[in-house]
Amino acid sequence: MTKKIIRVLGIESSCDETSVSIVEKSGEKIRVLANIVKSQIDIHQYYGGVVPELAARAHSDVIDKLIRLAMDKAKLSLKKIDAISATAGPGLMGGLLVGVVAGKTLAYVLKRPFIAINHLEGHALSIKLESEIDYPYLLLLVSGGHTEFTVIKKFNSYKRIGTTIDDALGEAFDKTARLLKLGYPGGPEIEKYAKLGDKNKFNLPKPLINEKNCHFSFAGLKSSVANIVAENRCTEKFKKDMSASFQETINQIIFVKSKNAIQEYKRTIKNKDKIKIVVAGGVAANQGIRNSLKKLEEIENCEFLFPSIKYCTDNGAMIAIAGIERFERNKFNKLNFKPR
Ligand code: KG4
Ligand code: ZN
Repeated sequence: MTKKIIRVLGIESSCDETSVSIVEKSGEKIRVLANIVKSQIDIHQYYGGVVPELAARAHSDVIDKLIRLAMDKAKLSLKKIDAISATAGPGLMGGLLVGVVAGKTLAYVLKRPFIAINHLEGHALSIKLESEIDYPYLLLLVSGGHTEFTVIKKFNSYKRIGTTIDDALGEAFDKTARLLKLGYPGGPEIEKYAKLGDKNKFNLPKPLINEKNCHFSFAGLKSSVANIVAENRCTEKFKKDMSASFQETINQIIFVKSKNAIQEYKRTIKNKDKIKIVVAGGVAANQGIRNSLKKLEEIENCEFLFPSIKYCTDNGAMIAIAGIERFERNKFNKLNFKPR
């Protein structure tokens, strides 16, 4: 099916953000007509982490309003939408059900195709919202639920070459922040405190650092922080020094593991010139990590691409762009598709 202008409404509700976006592709030009995001941080911060039942209820409370807001922002009537895409997994089931049912309902009523999107594919393709990028490229996805290197060979052909064997990186930030009695989400808090502390104060472990692969492990690091916290008074100075030491440890781990991943990736491709690495997920907002990765550009003759923060964290626009890629290839799903 070739159509000059394609508009897809994308719904994301797999974790603690409800988001509805409309993305348009006109020729080769991509435009985000609306990207409405409702964060649930206010609901979950009291618990220091996402409570699935509360998340599901909050998604269902706002989904219809967000659809209306997105249509208003895009100044379009629903008739102008060519397909509906929704995150169908992986994620928290209650939230996925809300988004998928809303998407299927719209698709049924509007007589448009429904397209189920894998959340990770959304992150992998989010860069296309802002940059033209040719396949293949390497993806480093670092979020609250995922930490992985994936080779994006071409559309619908993805190979994971590295992952975490325990906690996700965002989870490590959040858990460390909780130990230090900092706010939620922990990543931005740690980053803020780290700027004010001594990064050499505590010598923290770097699990798997000497293994010549691109797998991660963060559980031992978190336990080490917990042990040091138990032996110290949690003063402001302590929080700053521990945040700085934690941030520095993460920067070093990311540097070494990304170097390994790039080398592994290069062995699989013909053109090794200026390879591209897309860094996505909420943790990609971290400036310390960005600076650490930038240092690799000259060493490895590569280029790191960072989507804008609003497209790094969970958003409907990445689900809509993945929907457009599928729409162009007639890859639709039946209305009995089950979220996973
Ligand atoms: O991608 P995301 O919004 O949601 C999913 O997990 O899918 O990522 C949220 C995670 C949280 O763990 C949060 O602490 C972390 O991203 N994060 C950061 C920063 N901003 C958000 N971690 C480190 N530094 C940051 N500046
Ligand atoms: Zn995500």
